[in-house]
Amino acid sequence: MKILGIETSCDETAAAVIENGTQVLSNVVVSQVDIHKAYGGVVPEIAARSHIEAILPVIDQALENADLNWDQIDAIAVTHTPGLLGSLLIGTLTARTLAILHNKPLYPTHHLKSHIYANWLSGENQPEFPLIALVVSGGHTQLIYMKNHNHFEIIGTTHDDAVGEVFDKIAKILGLPYPGGPSITAAASSGNPYKHPLPHPKMPDFDFSFSGLKTAVLRAVQKELNLPISTPSYELAAKLTDQQIADFAASFQNTAIDILIEKLNKAVEKYQPASVLLAGGVAANSLLREKATQKFTDKTQLFLPEPKLSTDNAAMVASASYFALHTGARPTDPYELDISPRSQII
Ligand code: KG4
Ligand code: ZN
Repeated sequence: MKILGIETSCDETAAAVIENGTQVLSNVVVSQVDIHKAYGGVVPEIAARSHIEAILPVIDQALENADLNWDQIDAIAVTHTPGLLGSLLIGTLTARTLAILHNKPLYPTHHLKSHIYANWLSGENQPEFPLIALVVSGGHTQLIYMKNHNHFEIIGTTHDDAVGEVFDKIAKILGLPYPGGPSITAAASSGNPYKHPLPHPKMPDFDFSFSGLKTAVLRAVQKELNLPISTPSYELAAKLTDQQIADFAASFQNTAIDILIEKLNKAVEKYQPASVLLAGGVAANSLLREKATQKFTDKTQLFLPEPKLSTDNAAMVASASYFALHTGARPTDPYELDISPRSQII
C-alpha cells in the first residue's frame, strides 16, 4: 500500500510516499528556515504564505521521486493537528482537494504520533510494544507510553516551555542563529559543558520544566558580564566572546540533555518497556543520541530516527497513518476535515 503524506504544521513544506508504512519511496522537505532566520523565529503569516507557494511543487516532486502517478497512490495522509493555524490550513486544504480530485481516501494525522512513527522508517528492526517514546520538539516535551499501535498514554509532560523552544531561546540570548538546536550544538563543540553548573528542576514523576533552566542561563550570562539582572537579554550576545558563548552553549546543552535522560530513565525503570524511542526535532541532537545510546542500549531496544526524519517531514505522517488504518482508523470526509492548532495525543 502506497500512502502520500503531507506535512505543513510549522515551517517545513513536506510530501513523501511510503510503502507499507516502513519503506520510504520519496521524501521531499522544503524548509523555510532561511526566510524565518531574519526574524529569529517562525513568523506564522509568512509560514502560511510560503506553504501556499511550495506545496504543489513539493507534492509533484514526491510523486516524481517515487516514480509514481496518481493512479498508483492508495491514500493521502495529512497533518491536521497540532501546529500553526495558517500552516495547517494550507496542508489540509491541499490534501482535501487532492483527495476529492483523485478520489483517494483521506486520513488526518496527529503531528506527535507522526514524530513517533519516524522510528518505523529507519531500518530492518521495528519497535516492539510496550514502548516508551520521548517526544521532544519545538512545541512539546512528553513521555508517551504505547501498549499497541492505538494506545497513546501521556505519562509525563512539560509544565512550561518545550525543550526545543528553550534551545531556540537560549540561542537567541547567545546571538546564535535560528533554529537554536543545531546552532547550540555547533557552538558547544568548542565549549566546556561543566563551566557553568546549572540547576535540574525538581518535578514530580515523569514531568518536565525548562523555564527555570532558561532563566538560570540568562542570569549566569548577566553575572559573567557583571551586568544587573535588569539588562535586556538582547543586549548580552554582543558583549560575549566566542569562548564564553561556546561555554554557555555547552553547559546549557549538557544540562538540558541530562534532564531528558534522567526522566526517560526513570520511566524505563518503572514501565520496563520492550523498546525506547526518541522522536521530534530535538531527537536529532547528537549529545542526546549519544547519551541515550550509552544509557539504554543494555536495558532495552533503543530506536533513534535518522536526524532528517527526526525534524518535520511527511514520511512519518504517511507511516503513522498506515499503522492507524491497519488498526481500525477510518478515512475522513474530505469535505469536512477541520484543523486544530492545539490538541493532545490520544
Ligand atoms: O519536530 P520539529 O522539527 O518541529 C516541531 O514539531 O516543533 O522540532 C523543531 C525543534 C526546534 O526547536 C529546533 O531547535 C529543535 O527541534 N532541534 C534541535 C536540533 N535540531 C532541531 N534541538 C537540539 N539539537 C538539534 N540538533
Ligand atoms: Zn514536529
